[in-house]
Amino acid sequence: MVRSQAAETFLVLLAIAANKGLSVPLDNHEAWGYVDVRDGAHMFWWLYYADSPSAHYQDLPLVMWLQGGPGGSGSGFGNFEEIGPLNRDLEPRKTSWVQAASVLFVDNPVGTGFSYTDRPDGFATDVATVASDMLVLLEHFFRTKADFQNIPFYIFSESYGGKMAAAISLELTKAIAQGTVKCNFAGVALGDSWISPLDSVMTWGPYLYTTSLLDDYGLADVNNAAGAVKQAVEAQQFSKATELWSVTETVVEQNTNGVNFYNILTQEPDEKLTLSEGEDYIALQVRRHVHRLQGRSLSELMNGPIRKKLVIIPQNVTWGGQAEEVFSNMAGDFMKPVVDVVDQLLNAGVNVTIYNGQLDLIVDTMGQEMWVKRLKWKGLPSFNQLRWTPLDDPASPGITGAFYKGYKNFAFYWILKAGHMIPSDQGPMALQMLKMITQQN
Ligand SMILES: *[C@@H]1O[C@H](CO)[C@@H](O)[C@H](O)[C@H]1NC(C)=O
Ligand SMILES: *[C@@H]1O[C@H](CO)[C@@H](O)[C@H](O)[C@H]1NC(C)=O
Repeated sequence: MVRSQAAETFLVLLAIAANKGLSVPLDNHEAWGYVDVRDGAHMFWWLYYADSPSAHYQDLPLVMWLQGGPGGSGSGFGNFEEIGPLNRDLEPRKTSWVQAASVLFVDNPVGTGFSYTDRPDGFATDVATVASDMLVLLEHFFRTKADFQNIPFYIFSESYGGKMAAAISLELTKAIAQGTVKCNFAGVALGDSWISPLDSVMTWGPYLYTTSLLDDYGLADVNNAAGAVKQAVEAQQFSKATELWSVTETVVEQNTNGVNFYNILTQEPDEKLTLSEGEDYIALQVRRHVHRLQGRSLSELMNGPIRKKLVIIPQNVTWGGQAEEVFSNMAGDFMKPVVDVVDQLLNAGVNVTIYNGQLDLIVDTMGQEMWVKRLKWKGLPSFNQLRWTPLDDPASPGITGAFYKGYKNFAFYWILKAGHMIPSDQGPMALQMLKMITQQN
């Protein structure tokens, strides 16, 4: 069963905006709906048509945005905190990606955001299921919105979303070749992405040490803890590795006085660092990595005015209500690398872009460099020989906002002064990068 609804109820938002004295773009054009991707597994999507003064949406690309976690909601966090037309206060966002592309948010894996399952066994437990679920959604989307079949389609992602995006891109490439999905797939962009978890964990110590956030004792402690993660990963004990990853984070917090994993220039509030009595490591990791994507004011927005606007959300479904189960069901898959999937994408000729924030700890740039240098892709030696190019920050001309390097179908953007959530931290630079990747300048 498929329920879908066009933008008539946008009036609700207008009423809210009117109450607040805000202006909301009246010609905004949206659609949303649910697709049943498996028995009892309902996936929510929300599309914003590109809204540009100079181009029709059919002349601009389509971007699908995938949030991390797993369990973080693109329709909520990505939309209202990062790239959507309105911010969390429902004010227009100057750096919205909707001015350069149609944007499709999908709450995945099932159970994330407004997606839900009514069966305890309805959650995905591996990336293969995450990908096959998304293929069901994309087949439906491009079949029922045939006007998007020829528009260049890009997948952008953040954090764990990148691990999902890589796997989804590979399945999509196969489905297009087989003729089962009709779309013009143009590339995938992996932002601060959890492609090689071990490389991230192993570089935490050196990165924090060189940025004055660990002393010699702290460096030794963090490296020891990371070494235990490495042993578990090498022994293919992936659930154990997930637990030891959590332990390593605790060691980092203790030695740095609570550095924020998402931006090393900030600190976690004290209450975040206190373990609750009897809290298991899954609950702790959900608190560390999923709850920050569904903070109180965002949850109130999504479960208040937004669900009212959307109309189709079932009574007993709460935005974010199943996020913890999404995460815990994926715990055995969490530490598995997908570097080989990136290699397969490159060999298949898919355009792959990596972009990473300078101040991100959880997926630090050092770790990304390490797995990139291990790619088997035959263009890698030529990529390595190139020097990078500085890019001006569009918000401060003359000031470098990023470095860029690209060879054939592979590119890397080093985004300066940004943590894990690049569009939140450096909106103008992120928009500029979107335009470059989608060939708009
Ligand atoms: C919501 O209620 C329906 C009907 O009572 C039930 O079948 C379904 O399992 C519930 N879903 C959730 C996510 O609780
Ligand atoms: C893929 O990247 C190459 C090299 O940058 C570019 O020439 C090509 O047009 C890109 N394709 C798409 C569909 O963006």
